[in-house]
Amino acid sequence: MKRRLEDCRADDACVIPLSSLDVSETKRFQNDSIWSCFERLRREDPVHYCRESPYGPYWSLTKYRDIVAVDTNHKAFSSEQGVTIVDVPVEHWTQSFIKMGPPQHAEQRNTVSPIVGPENLTKLESLIRSRVRAILDGLPRNDAFNWVEMVSIELTTQMLATLFDFPFEDRRLLTYWSDVAVGTPKAGHEIDSWDKRNAILSECLDYFTRLWNERINTEPRLDLISLMAHSPATRHMKPSEFLGNLILLIVGGNDTTRNSITGGLLFMSQYPSELRKLTQNPKLVSSAVSEIIRYQTPIAHMRRTAATDSIVGGKQIRKGDKVVMWYISGNRDEEIIENANSFVIDRKNVRQHLSFGFGIHRCLGRHLAELQLRVLWEEILGAGLEVKVVGEPERIASNFVHGYSALPVRIAA
Ligand code: HEM
Repeated sequence: MKRRLEDCRADDACVIPLSSLDVSETKRFQNDSIWSCFERLRREDPVHYCRESPYGPYWSLTKYRDIVAVDTNHKAFSSEQGVTIVDVPVEHWTQSFIKMGPPQHAEQRNTVSPIVGPENLTKLESLIRSRVRAILDGLPRNDAFNWVEMVSIELTTQMLATLFDFPFEDRRLLTYWSDVAVGTPKAGHEIDSWDKRNAILSECLDYFTRLWNERINTEPRLDLISLMAHSPATRHMKPSEFLGNLILLIVGGNDTTRNSITGGLLFMSQYPSELRKLTQNPKLVSSAVSEIIRYQTPIAHMRRTAATDSIVGGKQIRKGDKVVMWYISGNRDEEIIENANSFVIDRKNVRQHLSFGFGIHRCLGRHLAELQLRVLWEEILGAGLEVKVVGEPERIASNFVHGYSALPVRIAA
């Protein structure tokens, strides 16, 4: 539903002077009040400079076209200084191919891309389907449970374990490392310093180094570790680069799909007419999946750093400036997407969204993510499962991963 300026509460983004509006505040993502901030920026200042924030000064891009222009111009807007609004201290910096430009980026990306190539996806479909069935069959009936924990995390973590050929019984370590990697250390939290974060991620590196050492001495296989161990582009990576690429692949494959699985269920419950459309016409499932991914926008932003002076949306960006592309806002840009604030599973041009980014870093795993979501919804519909949301979702306090820690649901027997 479209909100008007006068609908905004007195304490929210509509009344703060534009010059002090900082859309990176994580509490707005946690309490789901971020939308009015972005609506205002799109309307009043689509390329907005925030002078002071916990992350230093940064530009916010909030309109679809400006985001695409920057995302597709990797020469002028580089990912080499990081892809999130946080500046990681130099001593904790890890390299990975999302932070590289040509030609090294393409060499490393091409090394791992067969894992999500069409041939492998065809093979994975039946595995995903049998896992989805097992997970759905094992869910409680008539008792409330947390969908995030029992379905979203379980399904994506099982998939990730398969991609890495990671010991299945230890697969929840992948979820843990992913959560640690995306969190910024905060006083009073489990991860309260960069050193603590580093210590946990070193355990991740040690574990994967053992797997690497086993695989480098065996015939190449189709798993992410073996692909990297046997490719000239990645065989000689330093440990910190190996860790960086592991984090990229773990986070890429984990948080994003997980939060789309949860978001999908939540949206179908908020928009029962859309669920009815899907139940009556299951052929809409692929279109519904794209709409879920747009509406959720599991990665709220990607950051670039200006490599040269340039003009974006009429504003002068200087070399070295931090530029944040808010996909979550561009996906609600009414100039491009009609009725963008509503969840409409059969909308025109449903695949036209920013959730996977654009340009040379466009998401590598997008077809796998769509496949997992499609199979999940086919199986929910096929089994006639009525999953009711029975409480408010708990959202993550992050301006990067846009997602949930809990969604209480109940399935009628
Ligand atoms: C890159 C989103 C699923 C692996 C990205 C980017 C976004 C994104 C926004 C950066 C694009 C840019 O900078 O232009 C998503 C969403 C997903 C998803 C919304 C699910 C709904 C996955 C999965 C995997 C994966 C399942 C792994 C199997 C990657 C990798 C990159 C990437 C490796 C870096 C690509 C590069 O630098 O060339 N993803 N992703 N993603 N994603 Fe995904």
